[in-house]
Amino acid sequence: HLEEDGPSQKCKGGNISSLPNDIGPQDKGFLNEYHGFWIPALATSGVIASQKYFQARDTDILLVTPPKVGTTWSKAILFALMNRIHYQDLQEHPLLTKIPHDLVPLLEGDIYTKKKVHDLNPAFPRLLSTHLPYVLLPTSVKDSTCKIVYVYRNAKDTFVSLWHFQNRLYPTTASLEEAFNKFCKGMSPFGSYWDHVLSCWKKSIQNPGRKMLFLKYEEMKEQPTTYLKRIAEFLDCPFSPEEEAKGTVNDISSLCSFDNLSNLDVNKSRKWCLPDHKMTLFSQGVDNAAFFRQGQTGDWVNYLTSEMTEKLDHIIEEKFHGIGLKF
Ligand code: A3P
Repeated sequence: HLEEDGPSQKCKGGNISSLPNDIGPQDKGFLNEYHGFWIPALATSGVIASQKYFQARDTDILLVTPPKVGTTWSKAILFALMNRIHYQDLQEHPLLTKIPHDLVPLLEGDIYTKKKVHDLNPAFPRLLSTHLPYVLLPTSVKDSTCKIVYVYRNAKDTFVSLWHFQNRLYPTTASLEEAFNKFCKGMSPFGSYWDHVLSCWKKSIQNPGRKMLFLKYEEMKEQPTTYLKRIAEFLDCPFSPEEEAKGTVNDISSLCSFDNLSNLDVNKSRKWCLPDHKMTLFSQGVDNAAFFRQGQTGDWVNYLTSEMTEKLDHIIEEKFHGIGLKF
């Protein structure tokens, strides 16, 4: 149990202000370079606090994602799978009235930037999420045998999704070209995007005993029920033959689908607030709808020029060639 005035308070006096800033008048990126990655300024104290104070347990399940790769969807899936015994009546399911972010807390956002730190004890196993790349995960996570579910996505769609999200958050965001160039330079939240993916993938290769499941957004979109079963097995809560017979896999898939979640009142018209944020952006909250834009694959063709496509393809080829990950 963590005290009320615990980590987030203690870390406020950290050396965050001495970090280089990327605050342009146009882009409002608010990114701090931190150990080779670009961390949103509003998350930096939470990152440092979670690194310092979070005590992972071997039974934890940690969802690790770069932003805009399907975090919201993955949270819904993991929550629904792990808690299905408690919510057999899907009409009463918490996902119908809460955005997935309120059901699966973000380590460096919901937990460690709050004055009052959550009591992390009650749920067992605990289901948590983070945008931190593997190398920046708290040591206790790396030392534990907790399970990691890692989700990634086609870099072009990730960029386009990020671009829309940032536009919605900061209406004066830089032009698409400017944002694209920054993305290519690695200057995206918790990026570079490739180093985020590579950092976790390389760890899983070096340490095959580490319990990690890699999921690609596009593949989950194509075969949601196959992946639901795979995830359930990984989480040690496989579907029983009875559940399969009565259609539970399809039910959970439909419950978590874009069509269903994006049309719920909670996700259409309510706001999501990061607790205790004084920053103007979050003091007003973010429309939940911002997390549910289109939910499709391949939208990048409507935005990227052939030069941009070539540039990104080149980076991806360079970074991912021969490493054995379908990217
Ligand atoms: P698009 O902007 O391409 O539509 P994150 O949750 O990591 O912020 O990622 C957001 C992306 O996931 C958005 O992509 C969003 O529409 C998509 N998304 C949200 N819920 C989804 C769901 N249930 N199924 C598939 N995609 C979903």
